[in-house]
Amino acid sequence: MTAAECTVRPLAAEDLDAAGRLVRLAFGTFLHLPDPMATFGDRDMIGKRWSDTSKALGAYMGQRLVGLNVITKWGKFGWFGPLAVHPEFWGKGIAKILMTSTMDMFSDWETTAEGLFTFSESPKHTGLYGKFGFYPRFLTLVMRHEAVAGSEGYSTLSKLEDSQQEDILRQCREISATVYPGLDLSQEISSVEKRKLGDTVLLMDDSRVEGFAVCHTGAGTEAGSNNCYVKFAAVPSGDQSREKFSNLIEACMGFAVSSGAQTVEAGVNLGKTLTFEELKRLGFTTLFQGVAMQRPNEPGSNRPEVFAIEDWR
Ligand SMILES: CC(C)(COP(=O)(O)OP(=O)(O)OC[C@H]1O[C@@H](n2cnc3c(N)ncnc32)[C@H](O)[C@@H]1OP(=O)(O)O)[C@@H](O)C(=O)NCCC(=O)NCCS
Repeated sequence: MTAAECTVRPLAAEDLDAAGRLVRLAFGTFLHLPDPMATFGDRDMIGKRWSDTSKALGAYMGQRLVGLNVITKWGKFGWFGPLAVHPEFWGKGIAKILMTSTMDMFSDWETTAEGLFTFSESPKHTGLYGKFGFYPRFLTLVMRHEAVAGSEGYSTLSKLEDSQQEDILRQCREISATVYPGLDLSQEISSVEKRKLGDTVLLMDDSRVEGFAVCHTGAGTEAGSNNCYVKFAAVPSGDQSREKFSNLIEACMGFAVSSGAQTVEAGVNLGKTLTFEELKRLGFTTLFQGVAMQRPNEPGSNRPEVFAIEDWR
């Protein structure tokens, strides 16, 4: 079969299980894992996010799902992954077909910058994405810390009255816009709440939001068992941002412990030098690393003075 026989369309709901298996098989095979189907453990990388902030595209040969990509819109910023092709079909141009449809989606969404996280050591990966205008920039380190007591001085979105939520989301939007103009996590935050994937940790000063962190916890989410995964976190740039960020991470620790997690995981781009330095100071160590590829070839949100975690996995 050739790529010419491949069509791309929105991933059908009935294909979610097949999509989960395909992603495990593709990544596990690429990484030469002894049991590819055990890749990602009990994390769910597809099923819980395919219809909220994200759109999933499937590549089909007839009725058979042979590849997929999950594309996410955070306001004016778009990113994608996991992208995977069934190993039987590698090298036949399926990923390029998926990427063409992905770029069309970014253009429809009118995003002003896009990104992805990939294997820094793989010329195939950087070559593939390079064809679509993405440049390898700084490394992103996926860091981990044992979940320890942390702070209790935080709130979470789920504890607020419905009437407060609109104002909180507006304030979160104002904070994320200091990270990158138009960056908007509102739908991601609502999705985590609606689908019970974890919670959004809020650092509050009376009714003012000083920082927020979108966290997944437990099996069947992007965190996996006994883990709290900080998918996004930010404090406003400016006065006392280092202290606020440190307090936000302490709050995530507190939230992780209260959720029964034993570890806290967060991906930090080295372009955000001060964020990285702070996580190191707090005792986070690197689990693995990859490269952030960005379009256009500009810092975007990955600037030294920004205190934020954005995990584009
Ligand atoms: C990475 C992956 C998605 C690629 O899928 P694929 O269908 O084999 O890729 P394609 O055949 O569409 O395209 C690969 C392109 O990369 C290029 N490429 C391959 N090796 C290369 C190299 N060493 N240097 C530069 N470019 C290279 C190919 O030339 C090809 O482009 P061309 O056809 O214009 O020449 C697939 O291997 C996969 O699922 N891997 C496991 C999961 C994974 O790694 N996902 C991506 C994580 S970000």
